[in-house]
Amino acid sequence: MALQQFESEANGTDTAQHPLSPPRRSGRADELERQIDQLLGRLHIAVIYGGDKSADGAVIHRTLNPRSWKSYQAVAQDIADALQCIGFRHVIVVPDDMRLGENLQRHGTHLAWLNSGGVQGYNPMTHAAAMLEMLGIPYVGHDPLTAGTLDNKHVFKRELLHLGIPTAPFVTWHLARGAFRPKVNSRFIHAFKDHWGPFVVKPVSGRASLHVHLVEDEADLPDVVADVYHATENHVLIEAFLPGHEFCIAVSGLVMSKAGRLQRRSDPFAFAAIERRLEPDEKIFTSMDVRPITENRVRALNTQADAADLDQLHELARAVFLEMNLESIVRLDVRADGQGKLHVLEANPKPDLKKPSNDVTSLVCAGLASQGMSYDDLILSLLADRLDLLFSQRRGTVTHLTDLLD
Ligand SMILES: Nc1ncnc2c1ncn2[C@@H]1O[C@H](COP(=O)(O)OP(=O)(O)OP(=O)(O)O)[C@@H](O)[C@H]1O
Ligand SMILES: [Mg+2]
Repeated sequence: MALQQFESEANGTDTAQHPLSPPRRSGRADELERQIDQLLGRLHIAVIYGGDKSADGAVIHRTLNPRSWKSYQAVAQDIADALQCIGFRHVIVVPDDMRLGENLQRHGTHLAWLNSGGVQGYNPMTHAAAMLEMLGIPYVGHDPLTAGTLDNKHVFKRELLHLGIPTAPFVTWHLARGAFRPKVNSRFIHAFKDHWGPFVVKPVSGRASLHVHLVEDEADLPDVVADVYHATENHVLIEAFLPGHEFCIAVSGLVMSKAGRLQRRSDPFAFAAIERRLEPDEKIFTSMDVRPITENRVRALNTQADAADLDQLHELARAVFLEMNLESIVRLDVRADGQGKLHVLEANPKPDLKKPSNDVTSLVCAGLASQGMSYDDLILSLLADRLDLLFSQRRGTVTHLTDLLD
């Protein structure tokens, strides 16, 4: 696909005048379009999925997985297929494991795309990003510190508190300090002075609602905290249960593609706002491992009927992206309290980008149609935004990319 003309300067959304726009973006729209066109036949891209620690030669010693492991290989293939559809000629899919550097070197990789939750060990979401930093391979995805902050719900929530962004009251516990004793735990008493239950107990680093428990009675907390600890061998998060509607919204950088046309915005691109539909007796959204995300599990929000929720969602998405200096996509999971006020549950650093097929979709892609965006638009948006950042802010460190340009 030949890239079409950027619209930004033509439609008056040039960033140069906007106080929120990083200076790197201004005046480069046409140039970026030409650069991407040149890269279609020259750039070697590797999409990275989570390696399997039991595969021969994947790791030196097998260790534990505090974060429930999944390969995400099928989604990596969806991303690779879309890149090829867009026109990139050299795209491979490789596992995140001990041979990653060797594989990338062998394939002459210029740029990677992170679609891995890691192989094993603590903070696995950060490992491939850290390795790519060390190897000098630029990538689409979050840097190691950001990935680690976002994938540790308690660390992320501490940032939210500092930034004044609403999130449910919470404490953490680690069983190395003994049993959890809410009656005498001063942090618990302070955090939950206005909340008598129910509670949610969950892993600090988890996925797909795994090991997430609703606890009605404070007296049951010690046992459930111990269960989650034994399942994950990591810190455990205890937070107030939010009884209201549940929503998601994705947010990414300033450069995006709509109907095959690149645009430059003046604000982060918040999109795909949906409600996760819960059954009447479904307090915790059922794991997608058990019940795949189908069209009837999500509802695209309506600009008129859902205006108040949409306003709150857009403001939360914009605040998280800008205040945390994010540089790549996240999907915010959000839930309302009893009064309808929205609170951020988490920001997923590697949201599921499964391409919709046979009624099974992903929470981000289920909301694309309402934006007039295709799956290829989503993938081109994320890639173009990263290239824009590299070429304007990190030009000196990506000479192997700029050498590919005329
Ligand atoms: N404080 C809360 N109040 C109400 N429901 C909650 C709360 N925390 C979690 N949940 C429920 O549990 C589900 C999973 O929680 P969360 O999003 O924090 O973890 P996850 O397992 O990483 O999710 P994901 O499916 O996005 O990977 C949420 O979608 C929501 O239904
Ligand atoms: Mg979630």
